[in-house]
Amino acid sequence: MCGIVSAISYRNIAFTLTEGLLRLEYRGYDSCGIALFKDGELTRVRSMKRVSDLEKQLLDCRFDGCIGLAHTRWATHGIPSKYNAHPHFSRDKFGKPTIALVHNGIIENYEELRNSLDKDSYDFESQTDTEVLAHLLNDFYDGDIFRTVLNVTKLLKGSYAIAVFCSNEPDRIIGARQGSPLIIGIGVDENYLSSDSLAISDKIKDLIYLEDGDIVELKRKSINIIDSNGSYVERYKHSVNNIIATPNLGKYRHYMQKEIFEQPRAVADTLHNVDNLSHDFFGQDYYDLFNNIDSVLIVACGTSYYAGMTAKYWIESLAKIRVDVEIASEYIYRDSVPNPNTLVLAISQSGETADTLSALKHAKSLGLKNTMAICNMNNSAIVRECSFSYITQAGIEIGVASTKAFTTQLTALFLLSITLARYRSILGKEQEVAYCRDLRHLPSAIGSVLSLEPLIMEWAKYFAHKGNSLFLGRGRHYPIALEGALKMKEVTYIHAEAYPAGELKHGPLALVSEHMPVVVVAPSDRLLEKLKSNMQEVRARGGNLYVLADKGSTISNDSGINVIHMPEYYGMISPILYTVPLQLLAYHTALILGTDIDKPRNLAKSVTVE
Ligand code: G6P
Repeated sequence: MCGIVSAISYRNIAFTLTEGLLRLEYRGYDSCGIALFKDGELTRVRSMKRVSDLEKQLLDCRFDGCIGLAHTRWATHGIPSKYNAHPHFSRDKFGKPTIALVHNGIIENYEELRNSLDKDSYDFESQTDTEVLAHLLNDFYDGDIFRTVLNVTKLLKGSYAIAVFCSNEPDRIIGARQGSPLIIGIGVDENYLSSDSLAISDKIKDLIYLEDGDIVELKRKSINIIDSNGSYVERYKHSVNNIIATPNLGKYRHYMQKEIFEQPRAVADTLHNVDNLSHDFFGQDYYDLFNNIDSVLIVACGTSYYAGMTAKYWIESLAKIRVDVEIASEYIYRDSVPNPNTLVLAISQSGETADTLSALKHAKSLGLKNTMAICNMNNSAIVRECSFSYITQAGIEIGVASTKAFTTQLTALFLLSITLARYRSILGKEQEVAYCRDLRHLPSAIGSVLSLEPLIMEWAKYFAHKGNSLFLGRGRHYPIALEGALKMKEVTYIHAEAYPAGELKHGPLALVSEHMPVVVVAPSDRLLEKLKSNMQEVRARGGNLYVLADKGSTISNDSGINVIHMPEYYGMISPILYTVPLQLLAYHTALILGTDIDKPRNLAKSVTVE
């Protein structure tokens, strides 16, 4: 998704900004650009290629500057093109650029604002909402760009994080945020604005998370923030003690593969000290919260939504608490019936997903005050919006298709399920000991599943020649089938659908023929016999089955039935294990097809627009 890196310094910051953009590449983008200010001139290069192409252009043109704005764009208004790429300029009457602007988010009333501008005064070079804002700032400019941004943002509807530079006042950059993340990075004699701390973490001592409605004036040695009430405010400075190491691939070909193989470590770290599972696992502060709820409402998007679906099976079964799982973008816009004793659980890898954040705010506006985030990013907007949070320890996830973030979310959600069951005194001691034992073994069990990679690579050779695929599961493994199909479509672009196997005969069976590979998640749980009947329905129509089963499933290779045997059945936490081969299947199929695995077309890592 769009990324902002901007700086004001005494030194040339051109390549500092492009280095920042490189660190944001993982979020997904379709074009990029940079504007620099030097000797009274604003210069700009933009590209439809990678950030490395921007760097090449900067070298070729010999552009540099001590002040700059850089951006990666993920198209919303206007096609991906060089002319729609940011930064956008607004010019004086002689055609000289005076205002430069980068923007994340969407200005919803941009057409109305565009119509309010005098058509003869501004030449529109792009189809973007952002350029309208640049011209609007020019139009309202009164000699003080800080004040102008303050006045103009009052007219905006929608979400934005912006960085603005005006060449008449070259000693400052102005930033503003509403609904899209923006942080201030404080360095030595230089300051930054960015949408993600990762972009600048090695350049700064402290960082400040701006709040919605904040406008900031950034100079080399000072910052001033005005809040949504128009008052000057101090915001908390977080020291950047743990510089986030620049991710590297090591021995892996792609981040997706690396992150799949990091799962034993990520899950172990998320479990913390599971030996000591007690009422206090989530902290004593949770006492009132967990004692006072009688239902759970999960809001999430994408992979995180499937983690939420799995949690519904766990929480209802173990803790006997009713759970509703809502796709965030749907929940916001439908009439729901709020129950004040609900725990609202927002699940998000990035903690910045606009729909999940809005759903959380919507739930709060309906009087649901008990909020908790399960999130991979501390200090993210969703964590800050919630009263409680549990931070998964996946570590930075670069691959757009989420892998280790999902299994760590599941791990956290299972811990939550058994903790809630304990609070209700419905978890027998023996059962609890057994779950803790299974959880302790989980990282090494994931390691055993990873060793199945060569077998999955054989399956991938077959899938790479198919245009469609069907994934089946039942019960708590149905969301895992959904996640497997999502991985497949995200990175291979092969059409993949998932169904609860019992629904097969109500529609998808019509798709089954010898051309349709059908993946079945078939652990030896209580639904296995039912699932076997569903598999027969597929075989009877010539469909080829690719079955993930454990030894207890007693399913063997046969004509049209290909089986990979998983380690022993892990009961309740088995969904976590069955996720891993599906991730590997998608990865290896994509590898054969040669797609851009870590940055699949049209997708973004962190979706900060609705
Ligand atoms: C995007 C990503 C997905 C992710 C979803 C929700 O679509 O590409 O991988 O599952 O957003 O993101 P979140 O950060 O809220 O988990």
